[in-house]
Amino acid sequence: MTAPSHPAAPALNFVLIGFMGSGKSSIGRILATKLGFHLVDTDAMVVEAAGMQITDLFAWKGEDVFRDYESYALQCLADRPVRGTVISTGGGIVIRPQNVALLHRLGFVVLLTAREEVLFERVSRNKTRPLLHTPNPRETLSQLLTGRAPLYEAAADFTVDTSVHSHTQAADAILAEACRRFPSWNPGL
Ligand code: S3P
Repeated sequence: MTAPSHPAAPALNFVLIGFMGSGKSSIGRILATKLGFHLVDTDAMVVEAAGMQITDLFAWKGEDVFRDYESYALQCLADRPVRGTVISTGGGIVIRPQNVALLHRLGFVVLLTAREEVLFERVSRNKTRPLLHTPNPRETLSQLLTGRAPLYEAAADFTVDTSVHSHTQAADAILAEACRRFPSWNPGL
């Protein structure tokens, strides 16, 4: 008897990492919709656990406390354990090495990148990123990106450049790569 293809699909999780403005939330939504997967967002988990928005958490408790909430959110996901889920993460999740280990435990880690000027244009559309509330956000972004780039690269199983692909194309590229790497995984699309 041939097993139905779709029930096997949820065994995989997709974990999206990348700098602020790299498209994690939008591409995560598209991926989850295409696959009929759950979508979780570590930033949203932090907001719920802390009972306040991220800008307020940074302002009142500081970045370290935010990072503790973020690591706790990831640990909760790894402990459940979740399946058939797209996990969108905050841009700084790779800073703590223990987080990177959890990302790999959770699933297929996909790095979304974009050219620096594209990232800046995207993040300039709203003021929800406290790390960029500086006198020169363009320079801050550049410095953060330079410091984090090796961490993102080291953590990634697969990378997609979202400045050359539309979000839908990026989601399709991620799915194609997952099908190639995990031949027994059949999303039934
Ligand atoms: C951060 C990125 C944000 C959020 C917080 C810190 C970072 O998430 O977690 O403001 O350190 O890069 P997005 O990447 O979804 O903007």
